[in-house]
Amino acid sequence: MNADWPELSDLLLDTDLDTLARKPVSRGAVRAVLRRHGMRTAERILDGIPGGEVLDAATVDGILVRAHCELQRLSYEFRNGQRLLQLLAPMLEVLRAKLPQRPLRIVDIGCGMGFVLRWLAAYGALGDDVELLGCDFNPTLIANAEKLAREEGLRCKFRVANAFTLEQQAHVFLSTGVIHHFRGEALTGFFRSQASVGAAAMLHCDIKASWAAPLGSWIFHQARMREPLARHDGVLSAVRAHPCEVLLSASREGGSPLRFALFDGKPSLLPILRTMNTLVGVRAEFAEPFRERLGPLSARLEPFS
Ligand SMILES: C[S@@+](CC[C@H](N)C(=O)[O-])C[C@H]1O[C@@H](n2cnc3c(N)ncnc32)[C@H](O)[C@@H]1O
Repeated sequence: MNADWPELSDLLLDTDLDTLARKPVSRGAVRAVLRRHGMRTAERILDGIPGGEVLDAATVDGILVRAHCELQRLSYEFRNGQRLLQLLAPMLEVLRAKLPQRPLRIVDIGCGMGFVLRWLAAYGALGDDVELLGCDFNPTLIANAEKLAREEGLRCKFRVANAFTLEQQAHVFLSTGVIHHFRGEALTGFFRSQASVGAAAMLHCDIKASWAAPLGSWIFHQARMREPLARHDGVLSAVRAHPCEVLLSASREGGSPLRFALFDGKPSLLPILRTMNTLVGVRAEFAEPFRERLGPLSARLEPFS
C-alpha cells in the first residue's frame, strides 16, 4: 500500500458536484484504476461485488452502509465525539462572545451516517443557540443518519449537499476521517472553500500520521471490522494520513485569513497513545481567547500561525 492509492469507497461512488446526481460507475473503469496501482486486494473486493458491468447503486450503497456502521464502531471506541467536544465547547464560548449572529451553525463535512453530530446532539449540551447540520453526497448515508437521529429525538439535521455551497453560512466547519480523502491541490481547495464562505473556525479530526498508524489500523480492522471494503480502506486511510507539515502548509495556503494549529500534532514516542490529531483553524482575533478558554488542554495545541 502507498499514499497514492485511491480508496475503494471513493471509486465506487461518482457524484456530479453541480447537480449532486449520481453518475453510473463502470466496473471496467474502476478495475483499470486498481490495476494501474497494482491494488490486487481491492480488485478481489471489486470482483466480489455482484452484478454486471455498471455497478448496481443499491448494492454499492449496501456495502457503504455496512462499512459506515463499522466506521461508527471506530468513532465510538476512539471517542471522536468527546475529542471534538473538548475543542468545540471552548470555541463556541468564544464565538458566542464575539459574533452577533444566531444560531451558530456547525457543519460536518462528509458526515456519513452522522455519528459525531448525533453524539454532540445527545451529549454535547452545546446550547439552544447552536445548530448542527451534517452534509454528505450520499443520499443513502444521509437517510440513515436522519433515521437514527429521528429515532433518538436528536436536535441535528442532515442534508444531501455539498458542504461548501450551502445557502446559509456555516460558522464552524468540522469533519472526522475526511481530510485524507483530499490530496494535493484538492487539499488546499478544501480549506479555501471553507475560508471563502466566511467560516469563523474549523476543526478537522483525522488519523495521525505515524509509523504505527498502518499497523495499529490493521490490528483494529482485523479485530473489529468484517466488511472487506471497510478493512481495505481503513488500513489505507492510515497510510494516506497527512503528515502534520502537509496539513499545516495546505491549510495556511488555502485557509487564509484563518490561523491554524494542530491539536495533538506533536510526535510522540508511543504514537499508539495518540492515534488522531485535529487541525484547528480560527480567525486571528479569536485565536488567543480560544487558547485561554482551552485551559490546561492548550498544552496540546501548538502555536497558531
Ligand atoms: C470517509 S467518509 C465520511 C466518514 C464520516 N465523517 C465518519 O466519521 O463516519 C467521507 C464522506 O465525505 C463525503 N464528502 C466529500 N466531500 C464532501 C463535500 N464537499 N460535501 C459533503 N460531503 C462530502 C463523501 O460523500 C463521503 O461519504
